[in-house]
Amino acid sequence: MIRIAVLVSGTGSNLQALLDYEKRGGNPDGCIVLVIADRSCGALDHAAEHRVPALVLDRRTLGKNEFERSLLASLKQHSIDLVVLAGFLTILSEKVTGLYRRRIINIHPSLIPSFCGKGYYGERVHQAALQRGVKVSGATVHLVDEVADGGPILSQQALDVLDDDTPASLGRRILEQVEWKLLPKTVASYCLYMERNMNVSQKLAERRYPGRGIVCGMNDRGKAVIAYFITARSIHSKNRALVAEGDAVRTKAVDESLLVDPSLIIYRAMDRLGDDIVVANGDQSDTILDGLRQGVDLQQSLQSRTFEPDEPNYTPRISALFHLGPDPFYELSILRRSADGSCDRSFHAYSDLRLGEAHLIHTYEGDGNPLPSFTGEPRMVHLRGDAQSIADQMWDALDKEYRVALCVKEVDLTGNEAKLEIRQGVGNGSY
Ligand code: GAR
Repeated sequence: MIRIAVLVSGTGSNLQALLDYEKRGGNPDGCIVLVIADRSCGALDHAAEHRVPALVLDRRTLGKNEFERSLLASLKQHSIDLVVLAGFLTILSEKVTGLYRRRIINIHPSLIPSFCGKGYYGERVHQAALQRGVKVSGATVHLVDEVADGGPILSQQALDVLDDDTPASLGRRILEQVEWKLLPKTVASYCLYMERNMNVSQKLAERRYPGRGIVCGMNDRGKAVIAYFITARSIHSKNRALVAEGDAVRTKAVDESLLVDPSLIIYRAMDRLGDDIVVANGDQSDTILDGLRQGVDLQQSLQSRTFEPDEPNYTPRISALFHLGPDPFYELSILRRSADGSCDRSFHAYSDLRLGEAHLIHTYEGDGNPLPSFTGEPRMVHLRGDAQSIADQMWDALDKEYRVALCVKEVDLTGNEAKLEIRQGVGNGSY
């Protein structure tokens, strides 16, 4: 369920339309859990009628910086996934739009790119449209980025301008005939899209056999999250558990007597060295950690490694490094076999951390003989909740036949307060 905050400045008829639509069951994937006003306004009454928690962060008294600081704190506190601007008249800075990229929706009462941007709000928009003599106007629902009214358009609907229209009459018709329908419908579609495409459990459930996988990023509480999971097909490979040893997490054989060749299945899956957390699906974790001790970065260290030699699958070696501290970043690496047999080395670094956003890589695209390697770039996923909840969401999403073990580490970006959750056990209980 997508948790929505609606931001308002005015009478709030769009908020009312959103709440009514939700009440009628129109948005099964989303739920308005918070209303924030930047001034005292009529919209707050609609929130109260629907018993939705509301707060006023007075933009004038607080000033822009403090307003945005409090806004971000409230969004974080309520674990908000999606922000809807419904007649919200403060232009948000890059600090907010950057942290909630592709997760802020706005409605504007014109057909963008006409009559939009700074200074175009309320009746001014319609006054400008009538002055220009346009014969149609309408409304636009779009994603918000750092350019006022400039983000990607999600939906638009036009309406005829009448000869005797005044700014007030045109605005009223656009509001009643277009906005009240277009905004709730678009928000509902976007919630469905977010649930389907971005949630970590949805992404994991898309593939029955993803092999081994890594998730790295920041949860909606602003903490670093590093997860590693093992799914396996063969009895030999299923015979594994993840065991914590201090800061490290290692793979161990559950039944030592069944261990035939430990070389590719027994390794340090996760470890920490100062501000760096390393995670990998093989003993390249040691190569990376040795490199870090000598001041060598992940990319350089992995030049000495290739994909695994397990012909015919040639399993990709996947690794990640999360660097904590004042300038946090994470980097993911995939070493996979190309069609010509050479090693394709891809590295993806993310220094622009966003609340609730992470990246997922795994070894296989699915089942098959030979197993098809992961293709393309790391996949963006949303991470909601703490280590325990993320571990549960991921574990539930993994196929019960194939899932073997999973660990999720949640750490303060400062490096303090680490939490580790482990789940394990093969579905059918036997090896
Ligand atoms: C709506 O027409 C909305 O499109 C507009 O404010 C009105 C709010 O009405 N928004 C903008 O002009 C944003 N630039 P409401 O408070 O009754 O929902």
